[in-house]
Amino acid sequence: MNASDSSWLAEPAAVPAHVAVIMDGNGRWAKQRGLPRTFGHTSGARQVRAMVEHCQQCGIGYITIFAFSSENWKRPDDEVSSLMALFVLYLEKEVGAMSARGVRLKVVGDLTRFDARLQRLIRETEEKTAGNSGITLTVAANYGGRWDMLQAVRLWQAAHPGESVQALGEEDLAPFLSMAYAPDPDLLIRTGGESRVSNFLLWQIAYAEMFFTDVLWPDFSVKELAHALSWYASKDRRFGAVSERVAT
Ligand code: FPP
Repeated sequence: MNASDSSWLAEPAAVPAHVAVIMDGNGRWAKQRGLPRTFGHTSGARQVRAMVEHCQQCGIGYITIFAFSSENWKRPDDEVSSLMALFVLYLEKEVGAMSARGVRLKVVGDLTRFDARLQRLIRETEEKTAGNSGITLTVAANYGGRWDMLQAVRLWQAAHPGESVQALGEEDLAPFLSMAYAPDPDLLIRTGGESRVSNFLLWQIAYAEMFFTDVLWPDFSVKELAHALSWYASKDRRFGAVSERVAT
């Protein structure tokens, strides 16, 4: 490819409706540069905007990013605080620009553990962007896939007092999952060299194509994203059936 070749920017033929991303590698990215881990997170947060913009240009309807897992509380206090501060900053500063471009913001996860100010900011930002009809950016914060399934069962039971869980089918539970407003992810991208799903959207990624790359999240450019989307477009998605059946 020569320097002026921008063919990688072309939209791929089959576009996923929903892309989920595990943004791993911020700490290593910072360490490689002799910087504190928090610098990696700041750089990582910056990458999110370019990513959302490109997905929107490609006609992708939903992008969901894993910003903070239920397990991340085990990190050193200063790292947890700086991730929280970054989240607040992101909601305060970045979302205005995103909203202007029609981005709808949603946050999923057990938000009760966040301080009151952050919870209020999350609610306000969701309300402010609720009417936007462009791409939906979901930030998963204090999220875990197992937590999501459990809270869905609890909500179902509260809505159906006295009914036995024996009667519970997949379609009954789906509306109570935290991402009920979105189609299941078609493509899961994980940066940072690990090939695991780390308790992210366990129910929803049942049929997702998994794209694992060694690239560290702050280096995951639009070009890398375009590569992942082309890889996805080359996949024959059978959903447990055979190709001919899917075609018909
Ligand atoms: C994993 O890298 C990344 C995280 C735990 C946090 C991801 C958060 C951001 C990209 C910034 C926040 C985003 C928003 C939207 C506010 P790691 O720290 O595990 O990296 P390592 O594996 O190299 O140590």
